Amino acid sequence: MNIKKLAAEKAVDWVEEGMMVGLGTGSTAAYAIEKIGERVKQGLHIRAVATSVQSENLAREWSIPIIPFAEVGEIDLTIDGADEVDPNLNLIKGGGGALLREKIVAARSRQVMIITGENKVVQKLGAFPLPVEVVTFAHEWTIEKLASFGCKPVLRQTKDGDVFKTDNGNYTVDCHFNVIEDAARLHHQLNNIPGVVDNGLFINMASAVVVAYESGVIEVLR
Ligand code: A5P
Repeated sequence: MNIKKLAAEKAVDWVEEGMMVGLGTGSTAAYAIEKIGERVKQGLHIRAVATSVQSENLAREWSIPIIPFAEVGEIDLTIDGADEVDPNLNLIKGGGGALLREKIVAARSRQVMIITGENKVVQKLGAFPLPVEVVTFAHEWTIEKLASFGCKPVLRQTKDGDVFKTDNGNYTVDCHFNVIEDAARLHHQLNNIPGVVDNGLFINMASAVVVAYESGVIEVLR
């Protein structure tokens, strides 16, 4: 059972004619983009804004009209994946390296629909290393400050061993907390560190989470 695809295709049912749609990033969001692409080929008219260069390229392959963010008014619906989801629908995102654009697009959206498999639903966030986007300048010091919050910070690298750079030209630090007791507080504390651009905690941003189970059942958490 491909639970990522199952959740993604279910969420695309919420896409309606004429909508401005936010396109997420990652392997689950890619299934949603492909499904939207199929519907566009069948005659659906939408406009979309992408949360990464990767998703923009995929959308263009499917002839989904992409609008630059500056020309986007309010976004009707954003469909995006997540790395972890807690019972309050707070999230860790950024495993795919796109957390900043994802958060900006989510903040501009009337509805944010998160798509995920059952394996990413947790009681408490933090087993997945929290991605933090930092500017390259003085990043060694920023990493020290991140460590002072009780995590093991690891500067993300590409498969080839180079330092990974986001679409915004920044670095990503993956912060191993194991458990995050107070996600809302940590979100503010980390964003107060000079050099941190944003972190992958999405607090009160998801309108709904579509969870697909190996059994084939789909649950929508609100
Ligand atoms: C991208 O930066 C992330 O926020 C993704 O949404 C998240 O990592 C989920 O990715 P997958 O769908 O590939 O698991």
